[in-house]
Amino acid sequence: MIEVQPSGAALGADIIGADLSKPLSSEDFGAIHRAWMTHLVLRFRGQNLTDEHLMAFSRNFGALDGNPRHAQVEGRSPAAASGFVNIISNVVENGKSIGGLGNYEAKWHSDMSYNPIPPMASALYALEIPPEGGDTSFANMYTAYETLPDDIQTRVRALNCVHDSSLNSVGQLRVGFEDVTDPRKTPGALHPIVRTHPATGRLCLFLGRRRNAYIPGLDLADSEALLDTLWHHATQPEHCWTQQWTLGDLVLWDNRAALHRRDEFDGTARRVMHRTQISGDRPF
Ligand code: OGA
Ligand code: MN
Repeated sequence: MIEVQPSGAALGADIIGADLSKPLSSEDFGAIHRAWMTHLVLRFRGQNLTDEHLMAFSRNFGALDGNPRHAQVEGRSPAAASGFVNIISNVVENGKSIGGLGNYEAKWHSDMSYNPIPPMASALYALEIPPEGGDTSFANMYTAYETLPDDIQTRVRALNCVHDSSLNSVGQLRVGFEDVTDPRKTPGALHPIVRTHPATGRLCLFLGRRRNAYIPGLDLADSEALLDTLWHHATQPEHCWTQQWTLGDLVLWDNRAALHRRDEFDGTARRVMHRTQISGDRPF
C-alpha cells in the first residue's frame, strides 16, 4: 500500500511506496488520485522510468496530449518523436536544442492555457539536474481564490481573461506570432477568471499567465490593476510550495488548480526532463 506524506505547505505531497515502472493496482491508483485532488501536486521520488513507463503512468489519468509544436522539430530524440513525450532541457547537441525552455526563468503560468481546452495535468520526470537552480514552484489556486476579499471574489466570478498565446513560458515569441503591443489585441483563448474544478467541484482562480493578459469589458488600466492585484495575491508564499529536484523525481501537477514557475539555472550545467501532458476539458 502506498503512503501519502503532505508537504505541510499549501499544496504538494510525496507518494511513498509506489514503483511507477509497474502497473498500479486500482486501490493504489484510487489512493493516488484522491491525494492528487487534495494536494494538487504529487511527487514520486526515486523512480527509474523509461518513456513508456512515463506514458503508461500518465495514461491512468486520461488521454495524453500530443507534443506542442516546438517539440516536433526535426532531429529531436526518439522520446520527442513518440509524439507524447516532450523534452524540457537546455542541452544543445550538434547545434540544436534537444528540448524546450532553455535555462531561463519560467514565470508563473498554467500550461497551454492559451488553448480553448488546456491540459488537465502535466507530469515532469528528472533525468539530469543541475547542481543548483532550476527549482520548480507551485501555487494553490483554490486557496488563492478562497482568501480573496468577498467583493473581489464576486467581481471576478463575472469576468473572463485572455490568455496570451504569443509568448512561451520563458517569454520567447512563438513561431508565427507578432509582439503584442496592446493587451486589448492579445491573441489566445478567453477563459473564466474563476473556474469550477470538474472533479472536485471547488472554485479556483484560473489566471494562466500574466504577460499580455487582458480582461475584456474593462478599460486597459482597470484590467491591468485588477490583474496585478490578483497575481500579487495568488503568488504569495502562503499559497506556494517549491520542488527541489533530485534524480528520479516525477512530479505530477493539476494544471487546472495550480500555477507553476521555474527558477533559472547555470546554462553550462545540464538539465534534462521528460514530460507528458494529459488532456483536459473546457474551463467553466
Ligand atoms: C513545463 C514547465 C518547469 C520545469 O514543463 O511546463 O513549466 O521545471 N517546466 O522545467
Ligand atoms: Mn509549464
